[in-house]
Amino acid sequence: MNLLVCGGAGFIGSNFIRYMLKKYSDYKIVNFDKLTYAGNLDNLKEVENNPNYKFVQGDITDLDKLNEVIQENKTDHVINFAAETHVDRSIHGGCKDFVLTNTLGVQMILDAVKFNNVQKFVNVSTDEVYGALELDEDREFTESTPIWPNMPYAAAKAGGDLMCNAYFVTHKVPVVVTHCSNNYGSFQFPEKVIPFFIFKLLKGEKVPVYGDGLNVRDWIHVMDHAKALDLMLHVGVPGEVYNVGADNERSNLELTKMILNILGLGEDRIEYVTDRPGHDRRYAIDAAKIKSLGWTPDYTQEKFEQGLRETVEWYQNNTEWVEKLRTKKKDEMNKFQENLVRSDEKMKSAT
Ligand SMILES: NC(=O)c1ccc[n+]([C@@H]2O[C@H](COP(=O)([O-])OP(=O)(O)OC[C@H]3O[C@@H](n4cnc5c(N)ncnc54)[C@H](O)[C@@H]3O)[C@@H](O)[C@H]2O)c1
Repeated sequence: MNLLVCGGAGFIGSNFIRYMLKKYSDYKIVNFDKLTYAGNLDNLKEVENNPNYKFVQGDITDLDKLNEVIQENKTDHVINFAAETHVDRSIHGGCKDFVLTNTLGVQMILDAVKFNNVQKFVNVSTDEVYGALELDEDREFTESTPIWPNMPYAAAKAGGDLMCNAYFVTHKVPVVVTHCSNNYGSFQFPEKVIPFFIFKLLKGEKVPVYGDGLNVRDWIHVMDHAKALDLMLHVGVPGEVYNVGADNERSNLELTKMILNILGLGEDRIEYVTDRPGHDRRYAIDAAKIKSLGWTPDYTQEKFEQGLRETVEWYQNNTEWVEKLRTKKKDEMNKFQENLVRSDEKMKSAT
């Protein structure tokens, strides 16, 4: 396989690249990434000298560059992780880049896949496009649940998913879309809840829990997601959507208490803060369709505590990775924090 991975320098993409290079000694992988604040080549240090791996800096909204990289490397499969992914940024920091990358960028990849007759394209999307479930509702998201996103990040992702469907129906572009639940594991940018909480706690600070803390997310280990995407590249049926999840629903409060417990800390380290606007109450994934193709998660619900413990330990043992990241992306982190404060002040004065 000559595989083009878009957005492979982020959290899931870098875990996926390491997984694929280890599993398939004859696959060639080109990682095409813009290196936004969330892209970090240190995530791929382990494979940077692997002869089957190459990095090319580029933006998925640049069609000429996509065509060039596909032609030069005789790409036959494409997988896309490239996205603006932080929900809080899409709410407080403006969402133009979200629409550009998550919707327009996907359309550009579809054009490049069509133009170059690529055999298959897997677009990695999220369960957040389905909107929210209630806590007491007895159902999960299936592939036929209508797409009805509640926040700008998810709406921009949904735009990309709808383009995939349109290109499949109109142009017969061989595209598979996946909707995965919340991932946890190593190399996640420390603005996301699990590494964010771990580093705050390690610094002796409290952790901010939104609202009543009862919002529920369905957590999956990033390597189980990588395994599912490997399967999608090989047997995913073009034109189809597949949900990916590990039947592991946890409230934010439960997750926080588990992290505290692993670090041997008490609940006095929790600070309840004003809820996020448009905060979806519950996500839950029915993954029967992908399971029927033979995929099962290694980190089942019963092994969540073990997976979380390993994740906490990885961040504890890799403080250098995060410190380097903080220094490199300092301006970006500061700008975002300023935006958050300003937006919070505006909200307070409006209420
Ligand atoms: N993290 C989760 O829990 C989760 C769950 C389900 C689905 N997803 C989806 O999986 C994908 C990867 O998520 P992640 O958490 O690894 O994200 P991330 O923010 O860690 O990484 C995103 C990567 O995309 C790159 N990128 C951004 N804009 C780009 C552009 N215009 N052109 C090229 N590269 C660009 C960044 O540099 C970065 O390397 C996303 O599409 C996301 O929507 C994430």
